[in-house]
Amino acid sequence: MGFWCGWRMLQIHSHNKLMLPLFRPLSSSSISQAVVTVQDQQQLQKPQLRSSQLVALEYADLNLSYNLDLGHVRIRQHVNPLSSSFSAPAQVPDWNQVFADPALPLMVDIGCGSGRFLMWLAKRTPKVRNYLGLEIRQRMVKRAEEWVKDLALDNIHFLFANAPISFKQLVESYPGPLQLVSILCPDPHFKQKHRKRRVLQKPLVGAIVDNLTPGGQVFMQSDVLEVALDMKNQFDEVDELRHIDGSNTAILCDSEGWLLSNPMGIRTEREIHAEYEGAKIYRRLYEKKPM
Ligand SMILES: C[S@@+](CC[C@H](N)C(=O)[O-])C[C@H]1O[C@@H](n2cnc3c(N)ncnc32)[C@H](O)[C@@H]1O
Repeated sequence: MGFWCGWRMLQIHSHNKLMLPLFRPLSSSSISQAVVTVQDQQQLQKPQLRSSQLVALEYADLNLSYNLDLGHVRIRQHVNPLSSSFSAPAQVPDWNQVFADPALPLMVDIGCGSGRFLMWLAKRTPKVRNYLGLEIRQRMVKRAEEWVKDLALDNIHFLFANAPISFKQLVESYPGPLQLVSILCPDPHFKQKHRKRRVLQKPLVGAIVDNLTPGGQVFMQSDVLEVALDMKNQFDEVDELRHIDGSNTAILCDSEGWLLSNPMGIRTEREIHAEYEGAKIYRRLYEKKPM
């Protein structure tokens, strides 16, 4: 983002310096005044939206309250999923208590963040599918639960969970079929020594594939090519999965097999932020082959 912002500022400056002397020669002090004036004008003309506001706009029809009193919950930007404080598996809920119909097909979003992406889907498909969001930051889960109460949805549930530790037990206990698993813009953990903190590791791939119903899908994406390739390589290795490459579906891919758009009908929050910053999103969709 730093580079991108810098690039934008550079454009404004070079534009000023090129254009202004055409009108009249300026002293260095009047050039700097003129630069400020033109920048001010550009600020006025530019829509004053931050990417967080774009997210709120994208999810406007959920009509969520942003003034929730969440009490004193510790806010963490990132967490270390390997820390002992996240080593306990989440308690399996009574599915009859959390979903109106626990026999419906299930979608699980791993690392769901605020949960708005899943709420948007749940609102559009009541009585068709249940949605489970797994998130390691407790504050996010608390806010998501408040929003779900406000929305009065009975086909969505959020759990404070370290996904690699809790996923298997949760989906194995679910009464209906596991239809869709998404891992969308997971934390990148760039440093080599931190790669083992990445959410998608071999045992989680195995648990997803073993529990997915035939014809069920895995949707993965990242705005970081290295992370997307890491996930792609792990799913490509699985014989039971086939990559949906657009050859016999309406889903279109680029020449390297990345989906051209998000097939879910709405972008995730990280996706909105990343695209606002000019990043490309690397997406792939897999389907479990029939038995
Ligand atoms: C970059 S955010 C992306 C959120 C959302 N999927 C999106 O695309 O906007 C990654 C999310 O994964 C969560 N996360 C990271 N490690 C996790 C883990 N081991 N289990 C569950 N959630 C995790 C983070 O707390 C964060 O909310």
